Amino acid sequence: MISLFIIVFSYLLGSISFSYLIAKKIKQVDIRQHGSGNAGATNTLRLLGIGPAITVLLLDCAKGIVAVYLGLYFSNGDIVIAAACGLAAIIGHNWPIYYGFRGGKGVATTIGVLATLVFFPALISGIIAIISIIITRFVSLGSLLFIINTTLIAIIFRSSFQNPNTLSLFLIAICILSVWRHRANIQRLFTGTENKIGKK
Ligand code: G3P
Repeated sequence: MISLFIIVFSYLLGSISFSYLIAKKIKQVDIRQHGSGNAGATNTLRLLGIGPAITVLLLDCAKGIVAVYLGLYFSNGDIVIAAACGLAAIIGHNWPIYYGFRGGKGVATTIGVLATLVFFPALISGIIAIISIIITRFVSLGSLLFIINTTLIAIIFRSSFQNPNTLSLFLIAICILSVWRHRANIQRLFTGTENKIGKK
């Protein structure tokens, strides 16, 4: 029962959209009506610049970290409950109850969730993702590389985690969710029309 409560709480926590709140505060605009229309750190960078974007990235990431730790704490370290809390926070970010269920793509929150659940796969994938963003300037490509690589590496080395099969299923669910949320970006990447950061 307590686990269910924490999973619901994680969804409510994930629903707090920091890009939406910060854009409203600084520019009195709805971030979802600007740039890519995404309520996330990348679009905050386009709309408000580097400082607010880093703030959004860290706060959205923190939602994922807090959700996973709450899951671990209230289940006495059960990684499956922790993963369920992480997934709930990502779902909250993507479909937030407070803002008409129109949120972001969940990347920063997913970074927090994966870095807490499977640290080393996330670390290696994070380095690859940062290099790819520096080279290509496509944040969406870096985000997808991070999430797909983390999932693959964690599954390959799943025996080093508690409850490996169920954890793998949660990781696959998180990965599919992210690819689905990036479907328009993927299409733009293939047609050569994706937005690059640092370009007007
Ligand atoms: O932050 C999500 C990122 O992967 C893509 O964002 O705004 O370019 O669609 P955006």
